[in-house]
Amino acid sequence: MFFSPVWFRDDRVCEATRERNADDVYGYRGRLFRSRMVRCTQTAVAAAPEPRIKKFQVYRWDPDTPGDKPRMQTYEVDLNACGPMVLDALIKIKNEIDPTLTFRRSCREGICGSCAMNINGGNTLACINKIDTNTSKPVKIYPLPHMYVVKDLVPDMSNFYAQYKSIEPYLKRKDESQEGKEQYFQSVDDRQKLDGLYECILCACCSTGCPSYWWNGDKYLGPAVLLQAYRWMIDSRDEFTEERLAKLQDPFSLYRCHTIMNCTKTCPKGLNPGKAIAEIKKMMATYKEKKAAAV
Ligand code: SF4
Ligand code: SF4
Ligand code: FES
Repeated sequence: MFFSPVWFRDDRVCEATRERNADDVYGYRGRLFRSRMVRCTQTAVAAAPEPRIKKFQVYRWDPDTPGDKPRMQTYEVDLNACGPMVLDALIKIKNEIDPTLTFRRSCREGICGSCAMNINGGNTLACINKIDTNTSKPVKIYPLPHMYVVKDLVPDMSNFYAQYKSIEPYLKRKDESQEGKEQYFQSVDDRQKLDGLYECILCACCSTGCPSYWWNGDKYLGPAVLLQAYRWMIDSRDEFTEERLAKLQDPFSLYRCHTIMNCTKTCPKGLNPGKAIAEIKKMMATYKEKKAAAV
């Protein structure tokens, strides 16, 4: 293999000699090339972004560690190397910093409802909640409030799901002999009545933001479940509206709602469970009048 004497020497001499040699070999073009290289290097250095370190203070509690008490743990994440949503940061923390951090998530696009949590004081979905890029303020993350905690950011949803089951959230017909044999038709107008209701993803942000549900969550059904109850009450294909209303007549299931409207304010899907509850109350008044007249 042929080695140029210049390059051979080049490996062993000082920077000044190397430059001189390059000048000797390449003359003007060599100098031009080197000046461009310097400019490129300077541009690359200037373009390298400053790290944007954001603090995330996350509620931690592990029931499997004897004596463990709930505490806040701080993690630092460079926003330049992280997706824009709070769920992106949590996934990054779990993948790269602390695999013991526990939270629920699935769809990462506001459809499944599993990543519901309390972020900076509001109940919302972590996957559609943008990280505040002001790095002087930490993001504070807690599980949904007033729920038993399974671990870290995972609330126990057993009571919530039992309440949902109690309202029989499915189509009910008096005569089931034709079930599966033909479609139950619905007019366009009747179908439109379900808009603003069917979109509920049962994330429980509203129920766990409701003061009445905090204090009476065992007996009051809460806004999410009541919105679902209303959705079936007004479905033109369902034939159990009165029975559904009758089940809510006690002082707690429905009437613990005091129209504070936290539920509507917090719903990450922009729904209005407070209005749905008010509509049930109106239907209930008519139902009670009808029942009284029949006696
Ligand atoms: S009404 Fe909104 S906040 Fe409540 S469960 Fe449904 S989607 Fe979630
Ligand atoms: S409107 Fe009713 S359900 Fe909604 S937050 Fe207020 S009390 Fe709770
Ligand atoms: S991950 Fe499904 S709603 Fe957030």
